Amino acid sequence: MVVVVVVVVVVTTISSSSSSSPSSSSSSFFSSSSSIFDDNCPRVCSCFAATVDCSNRQMTELPRDLPRVATRVNFAGNQLIVLASGSMTSLRNVVSLDLRRNELEVVADGVFEGCPILQVNAHFTTTLPPLPPSTNPIKQILDMSHNNLTNLNEFTFRGLETLTDFNLSNNLVGKMDGVFSSLVELSRLDISQNRIRVLTQFSLRDLVNLRELDMSETNLKYLSLNVVESMPNLFHLKISSNDWYCNSSMLWLKAWL
Ligand SMILES: *[C@@H]1O[C@H](CO)[C@@H](O)[C@H](O)[C@H]1NC(C)=O
Ligand SMILES: *[C@@H]1O[C@H](CO)[C@@H](O)[C@H](O)[C@H]1NC(C)=O
Ligand SMILES: *[C@@H]1O[C@H](CO)[C@@H](O)[C@H](O)[C@H]1NC(C)=O
Repeated sequence: MVVVVVVVVVVTTISSSSSSSPSSSSSSFFSSSSSIFDDNCPRVCSCFAATVDCSNRQMTELPRDLPRVATRVNFAGNQLIVLASGSMTSLRNVVSLDLRRNELEVVADGVFEGCPILQVNAHFTTTLPPLPPSTNPIKQILDMSHNNLTNLNEFTFRGLETLTDFNLSNNLVGKMDGVFSSLVELSRLDISQNRIRVLTQFSLRDLVNLRELDMSETNLKYLSLNVVESMPNLFHLKISSNDWYCNSSMLWLKAWL
């Protein structure tokens, strides 16, 4: 009996001391500042809550020391030209990444790969019950609209398997084949104002959860029914401002709309 009591006391002491030290340090960590990473905020950016705002800073390259705890990161309106390999690896918890209005031309193959960027993290997976992908309430957003992207391939966006919203509008992308092969959870895609011209039945076939697609102003002339049928969950398709070539192979469109 005595032994048991001693053991209990020892265990209680260990657990209370081990639980008190991280909680007391984290409470002072949070109460001392409005941001959870004041010390880590890149010098040119401002940080609030878990948001890092580096927008409109005339940056030509990414800051090196991006804080790991950030969930929203905004690089919009800078002069970034290259997303180099490894530049995203510290963004472990990001659910929204805004790269709008830069001059991105080069995106290293797999720059989003190998790091859990834009992937559901432990916090989300343990607190939410599993849901079918198309009703997944967690939005994971990547905005690369208004850049100078031309050549993308099947490796460019690897690692973005849980991305839900992707905006690639206002770029110079021509070929789309294979580019979206990793994006199986994607629900909204905007590829408007690019230079696509031709989409084959392989171009968008991996987008099995896509619900909304904007392909307006893409120089498309012909769209085969196979392309649309390869996206079984599509319910909103925007294809305005293209000069459609009209022959009998396009009649399905009239019926579908
Ligand atoms: C990107 O495109 C814009 C508009 O077409 C152009 O003004 C700019 O010079 C381009 N940037 C680079 C780095 O080529
Ligand atoms: C994509 O970005 C463009 C330009 O930044 C914007 O006008 C458009 O509304 C965005 N698309 C979606 C689906 O949010
Ligand atoms: C309609 O035009 C497209 C594109 O030029 C072509 O692939 C298709 O075979 C044509 N369909 C018919 C019935 O001529």
